[in-house]
Amino acid sequence: MCGIVAAVTQRNIINCLLQSIKRLEYRGYDSSGLALINKNNNFIRFRSVGKVNELIKKIKNKKLFGTIGLAHTRWATHGKVSEENTHPHISSHIAIVHNGIIENSLQLRSFLEKKGYIFYSETDTEVIVHLLHWEQKKTGKPLLEVISNILIKLHGNYSMVIMDSNNSSKLIAVCSGSPLIIGLGVEENFIASDQIALLNITKRFIYLKEGDIAIIKSEKIKIFDKNNLIIQRKIVKSNIKYECINKGKYKHYMEKEIYEQPISIRNTLKNRLKNNTTIYFPELGLKEKNIFLHLEHIQIVACGTSYHAAMVSKHWFESIANIPCDVEVASEFSYRKLAVRKKSFFITLSQSGETADTLRALRISKKLGYLGNLTICNMQGSSLVQESDTCLLTKAGIEIGVASTKSFTTQLTVLLMLVAKIVGIKKKENNIEKQIVKILTILPYRIEEILKKNKEIKNLAKKIYNKKNMLFLGRGDQYPIAMEGALKLKEISYIHAEAYPSGELKHGPLALIDKNVPIIITAPKNSLLEKTKQNIQEICARGGLIYIFSDEEINLEKNITVLKLPYVEEIIAPIFYIIPLQLLAYYIALIKGTNIDQPRNLAKSVTVE
Ligand code: F6R
Repeated sequence: MCGIVAAVTQRNIINCLLQSIKRLEYRGYDSSGLALINKNNNFIRFRSVGKVNELIKKIKNKKLFGTIGLAHTRWATHGKVSEENTHPHISSHIAIVHNGIIENSLQLRSFLEKKGYIFYSETDTEVIVHLLHWEQKKTGKPLLEVISNILIKLHGNYSMVIMDSNNSSKLIAVCSGSPLIIGLGVEENFIASDQIALLNITKRFIYLKEGDIAIIKSEKIKIFDKNNLIIQRKIVKSNIKYECINKGKYKHYMEKEIYEQPISIRNTLKNRLKNNTTIYFPELGLKEKNIFLHLEHIQIVACGTSYHAAMVSKHWFESIANIPCDVEVASEFSYRKLAVRKKSFFITLSQSGETADTLRALRISKKLGYLGNLTICNMQGSSLVQESDTCLLTKAGIEIGVASTKSFTTQLTVLLMLVAKIVGIKKKENNIEKQIVKILTILPYRIEEILKKNKEIKNLAKKIYNKKNMLFLGRGDQYPIAMEGALKLKEISYIHAEAYPSGELKHGPLALIDKNVPIIITAPKNSLLEKTKQNIQEICARGGLIYIFSDEEINLEKNITVLKLPYVEEIIAPIFYIIPLQLLAYYIALIKGTNIDQPRNLAKSVTVE
């Protein structure tokens, strides 16, 4: 959470900083700020509450010049949303932007107050900058040395960039807990939380590693690792096209990303289906294959939408591969006493690869005796990818809308491939693998078909957009789909929604049923459909307002509307049935006029616990 951009160049950097920080708004959009060093070696700082556009408006007609600067977009943690709490924070000649949380900030603050420092904000970041100033004043040492010395006093996460108005030729970046990436230009260099910020400037990046400290000048870069030794980090050439981060013909990124799902799934499958019979993951070597052969249990840990994908895969691992699988929300997994199953393999799922809860769970898992670990992730070079034994990339392409859509369906695609691969390895016969390969080949076409139902779904949105509460029901592998449908609706339309397994309603939630609570049910034709129909009758009898997505004719009663969907193979039904729910949430939010791509209080990359 929070986005950082900084630049040290030979040209006026102001527009570049503003455009780049705007592209990081998905990381937080409570407030934003910018600081430059001017020709007189003084800081000029502007800060604004709200989106980056507010900051742009504030700066627009000012004649500013600076070749070195910092910018930040904030997702509030310590302290309310206010201009005072907005980064950059300054202490005399030192300015800082920070991403993370300093857990012992209150103690440090009280120490600094005793030394006479006056705090203008409630943030933990202001504590860091005053501490730097105090240590430098006290020791007279160069800033780099002072930074290294104070890090041991900071508990928590502190990826940050520091600028010194007494030395306007360099920036110092510290990477701890949240990503920082150096963008290499020609006689200019940049640092940002994500390459998206810099794609229109450069394609050459260095991913800083945990514990790295980098000195960034316009003509050169020096990196020290966590042991304070100079290190050469690999330069990575990005293949992400700048155009990918535009909305194109769509009104919102979320809409674009929903419609991109057939192509994202095609990219995820590309070069991974061999001879139409086997699944091929070049990422997996002999070691992994040996682990797959011997594993007896799978533990998956994830958050939010990724957790819902994991829940679907539990059904696949158990029903197709006959492997017991447990799924847990990362923030729960990390904070309880765990009993690890015998021969268990650990999997994390994440779009961003930076989710603090999931990262923590991975780090904990490494001490618990799992056979090994694997991450299924959308972001190459992310912390989860770097810290996991193995990674299977989802290849959804950059997802900018805060509400995940294409990441979910590509995660499910990789998970289904993984299930088939493990079955192939374990059973040494590839019939199931072959069948799944065949079905996966059809999947993008099936998604194209269902996207054509958009008009009907839009009409449904018009009927129910003004309701205050909704229920989502599903059975078996459709229950996680109901959960994901409810999450999408909550996130972008702010309508209260809850998901239940269809059979669970009679154990309490039936009390909620009346004609003002729409009940959305996904009910594909499968062995559970008759049971679901029974549950539908129970709701009907109590006057519930029912909307069913199904590929089966379901006898119409007065208060039931069936949205007939095309046929889909049972195994891939979860990937298929989430599409109408994504569209429903999108169209409801569109009618309500909410901020679909940047819903209130949220951010895309959740780098705090
Ligand atoms: C919901 C959503 C979040 C994320 C969650 C985990 O639309 O996007 O619930 O799924 O924060 O994020 P990742 O997958 O990046 O670990």
